[in-house]
Amino acid sequence: MPSTEATHIDSTLTESRKFPPPADFSARAWVKSLDEYNAICKRADADPEAFWAECARGLYWFKPFGKTLEWNFPHAKWFVGGTINAAYNCLDRHLDGPRRNKAALIWEGEPGDSRVLTYQMLADEVGRCANALKSLGVKDGDRVAIYMPLVPEAAIAMLACARIGAIHSVVFGGFSSEALADRINDAEAKVCITADGGWRRGQIVELKNNVDEALKKCPSIRKVLVLKRVGNKVEMRKGRDLWWDELVPAQSPRCEAAALDAEHPLYTLYTSGTTGKPKGVVHTTGGYLTHVLMTMKWVFDLKEDDIYWCTADIGWVTGHSYTVYGPLAAGATVLMYEGAPNFPENDRFWQIIAKYHVSIFYTAPTAIRTFIKWGDAWVKKHDLSSLRLLGSVGEPINPEAWMWYRKVIGGERCPIVDTWWQTETGGIMISPMPGAIATKPGSATLALPGIAADVVTREGKSVGANQGGLLIVRKPWPGMLRTIYRDPERYKNNYFVQIDGAYFTGDGARRDQDGYLWIMGRVDDVINVSGHRLGTMEIESALVSHAAVAEAACVGRPDEMKGQAVVAFVTLEGGRKGDGRLRDELRAHVVKEIGALARPDDVRFTEALPKTRSGKIMRRLLRQIASGDETLGDTTTLEDLSVLAKLRDDEQG
Ligand code: WT7
Repeated sequence: MPSTEATHIDSTLTESRKFPPPADFSARAWVKSLDEYNAICKRADADPEAFWAECARGLYWFKPFGKTLEWNFPHAKWFVGGTINAAYNCLDRHLDGPRRNKAALIWEGEPGDSRVLTYQMLADEVGRCANALKSLGVKDGDRVAIYMPLVPEAAIAMLACARIGAIHSVVFGGFSSEALADRINDAEAKVCITADGGWRRGQIVELKNNVDEALKKCPSIRKVLVLKRVGNKVEMRKGRDLWWDELVPAQSPRCEAAALDAEHPLYTLYTSGTTGKPKGVVHTTGGYLTHVLMTMKWVFDLKEDDIYWCTADIGWVTGHSYTVYGPLAAGATVLMYEGAPNFPENDRFWQIIAKYHVSIFYTAPTAIRTFIKWGDAWVKKHDLSSLRLLGSVGEPINPEAWMWYRKVIGGERCPIVDTWWQTETGGIMISPMPGAIATKPGSATLALPGIAADVVTREGKSVGANQGGLLIVRKPWPGMLRTIYRDPERYKNNYFVQIDGAYFTGDGARRDQDGYLWIMGRVDDVINVSGHRLGTMEIESALVSHAAVAEAACVGRPDEMKGQAVVAFVTLEGGRKGDGRLRDELRAHVVKEIGALARPDDVRFTEALPKTRSGKIMRRLLRQIASGDETLGDTTTLEDLSVLAKLRDDEQG
């Protein structure tokens, strides 16, 4: 919800560089000019339903839909009455023509092992896995948790669920057993698909052990399917745990794709909000697929011969929409890499691009800033001339990182698509179309056709050029989330009550004199660490669950590498004094409760937290303190002013 702080969003960034699309790129692009982009937008605005219906007809429907949209604010049903299957659209549909023998997945493991699966091979694997799930009793509508490394079987498992109408809930392999247990329990998942472990920077990530730990408190799980990836010793519980290798390869590759309602849930994916409990964002089938398919063309300008690489893990929405569903629905060749960018050395990504002739590369600003730090020499060792398009996602990209990306990775030849979207939006909402829109470093540029984005005041009035405001979407779009799993109230309250009649994104933004959008980051209690969303409340709950902690408040502090770093202000039980050991213990405790990405960079002990008269923690003040800002704002409403002075003087030790 927009706090009062959101009403004074000041925008300080001034950036005047502008890069028109290269003429040769535009000539071959799906959308070739600004005029063409404008014409598509005009068509979409004039009759959104006819426009989206036409887009949806690019998919294969078992039964055509009737009504395009049933909008019962804030609930949308898209492509009403149509029946469809996501796996069928990602696989079977390509098997009639030359795509049958085209590489669907090119995979490289961190140790250097590699596999290629054609569309036919992938379809067969998905069929086998779907039959295996059926043999475990998984049915249409059942939830399946997937906790895996970035291996082909992760995508196979997702598509196998989609094939039989089971709803997958992928949990990022970097999350702790606690976080996994919470997500499994919220979804009441019946089956969990995992691996013995995964590779990360030469080390084994103990996935199966984490699952065992989590399942101590997950009564809904009946079976665990375990892929052998790293060969470490794991415990297999009799009657519950089965090896993938023993069950899946023995199945028939034929498994009929279920004809599912367009609104059948495809997956839930948990994301952080402003309370301690992650939200299970629900995406359904027909609308979601329409959105991700269209954006493969509009944003990534995908062509038959591209080798497309999105570096996101499958545990995030980017991995869902732009490693699995979007590119496979579009018939792309998708590259997938299991491990870290600096294993065995800092040039692994560039080596992979050169080795497989990657042409489209999609990564996150935090990664780009890390590459800059590692130095150009690592890049220069490799031939990156196969690249033709670069993408960025996850957080605002600083203009200097953008310029480096363009020059050093893109050889000043590749357009950059800075894509703004969210777990909730399902697919990309704001991004340049690379053949049509001139780019400006740091701006996601313009909304895609049919996406009614606006920047408004708290009252919902559009702001003028170069004024900060709240980013909203005025009309429903096919890929939008449909609800929060088992919590429709939260769905409404989180997104649809702040600005009358519109979807509120939680982000601040500004529109410049050319109508370009500049995203300014979150205006709520959500922080963005390395492109990953963390609710401050979640970290606070984790801290408070430690016996020594009485109260905690977490804020983000600007961080050169990660975008934001977590700073925790902590008061202790019974006047206990904090020291370096407790600080380390608390940081480790957060890792155990949530995962390494939530580890506070800084834990500061204080006797009390600054609060308003109504008892609200003054986060703006804490943010300023955390980033060492001396010009602190109005503090007259502080419950105890001495707290402020204490916090500022408080030493690290
Ligand atoms: C939040 C959504 C969408 C997949 C990755 C993150 C921020 C995302 C951009 C961008 C500026 C961006 C926003 C948004 N964000 N992309 N191109 N420019 N900010 O998904 O975890 O759902 O987070 O990430 O703040 O609200 P997510």
